[in-house]
Amino acid sequence: MTTAYDVAAVREDFPILDTTVRGKPLVFLDTAASAQKPRAVIEAISEFYETHYANIHRGVYQLSADATQRYEGSRDTVQQFIGATDRREVVFVRNATEAINLVAHTWAEKNLQAGDEVLITALEHHANIVPWQMLGQRKGIRLRVAPVNERGEVVLEEFEKLLNDRTRLVAVAQVSNALGTILPLESMIELAHKRGARVLVDGAQAIPHMPVDVGQMDCDFYVFSGHKLLGPSGIGVLYGKLSLLEAMPPFLGGGDMIESVSFEKSTYAPPPARFEAGTPDIAGAVGLDAAIQYLQGVGIERVALWEHELLEYATAKLSEIDGLRIIGTAAEKSAVLSFVLEGVHAHDVGTALDQAGVAVRVGHHCAQPVMEIFGVPATVRASFALYNTRNEVDQLAAALRETLEIFR
Ligand code: ALA
Repeated sequence: MTTAYDVAAVREDFPILDTTVRGKPLVFLDTAASAQKPRAVIEAISEFYETHYANIHRGVYQLSADATQRYEGSRDTVQQFIGATDRREVVFVRNATEAINLVAHTWAEKNLQAGDEVLITALEHHANIVPWQMLGQRKGIRLRVAPVNERGEVVLEEFEKLLNDRTRLVAVAQVSNALGTILPLESMIELAHKRGARVLVDGAQAIPHMPVDVGQMDCDFYVFSGHKLLGPSGIGVLYGKLSLLEAMPPFLGGGDMIESVSFEKSTYAPPPARFEAGTPDIAGAVGLDAAIQYLQGVGIERVALWEHELLEYATAKLSEIDGLRIIGTAAEKSAVLSFVLEGVHAHDVGTALDQAGVAVRVGHHCAQPVMEIFGVPATVRASFALYNTRNEVDQLAAALRETLEIFR
């Protein structure tokens, strides 16, 4: 029998949740932008700096060897967490954005020709649109966009129609950051592979909230950021199938990514080092390791169930508010609730909520095209995490009712 989810105990692990904002207890509902950090992560980083810090892969002395072991140990943790078959398939980068740009500048630059197509969906974050547009400008590649229906779901038949022999890459989010839609990746990846296209999955909004197994998913690339996964900012991951990484040219040139250098010619290290030029975010990797271990300690399946419960509760609660329209009502959703209040600009709602100590994101959420589809310039977005409670949803609902009173 599984024990009940103890959200109070989880909250105790996050020091910031004890703070107040404008004299009110903080109600943090903006995890989709960045997650708060458990004490385990904060302490792992300071302990590392206090007792183990040195540069990695370079020193013959004990401290450098220790730091290298911590950094490489984090790679092992990530490998196991995402179900990669080989630790060399895990490349540390700054964030999901950098990982996508890396693939655009290396794999895509080498393998795509003018007239080839990259297929994305209408739900993508700017990070999974702009790098492909920039590639298109460099190489004459066509960007195609699979539409979504009125609930914010990818229509599989439409997606399939856009796949053709020129489609070389399908680049899609696992979860939409703006609406919370969970995409039907299993079918999408199967369809893409049948047409011979590679698949890059932007997992930034998914990996903190549901179990991920890249092997089972059979994606070719998977990217995510540490800061949304309870880890520090400045560290992220590119997963790539080893055979692809091995055949890819480097992204940035510099120290640690080479085999040998002369003024005439340099040769490159095998992956992952080939893609990790320069001193990386060493403490960031250590913090990410601690974050993953913390999340595994709580149990990602239990977190997913808890967040789903919160989403259902919040959807019901907010639906009772007259004048509130939820944007994005997909059948399969992660813990994101986007909405607009009739007659009140999203930024005014955000400011009013802040007065009540409630932190949400307002705006286009770096997903302007999807806002256009729904005919709104901006939404208010509440996003939930393992540390949120029903009581916080009640506080959000109460603050929204007050906001409506003020503006009507
Ligand atoms: N991509 C982040 C968000 O959705 C920053 O808020």
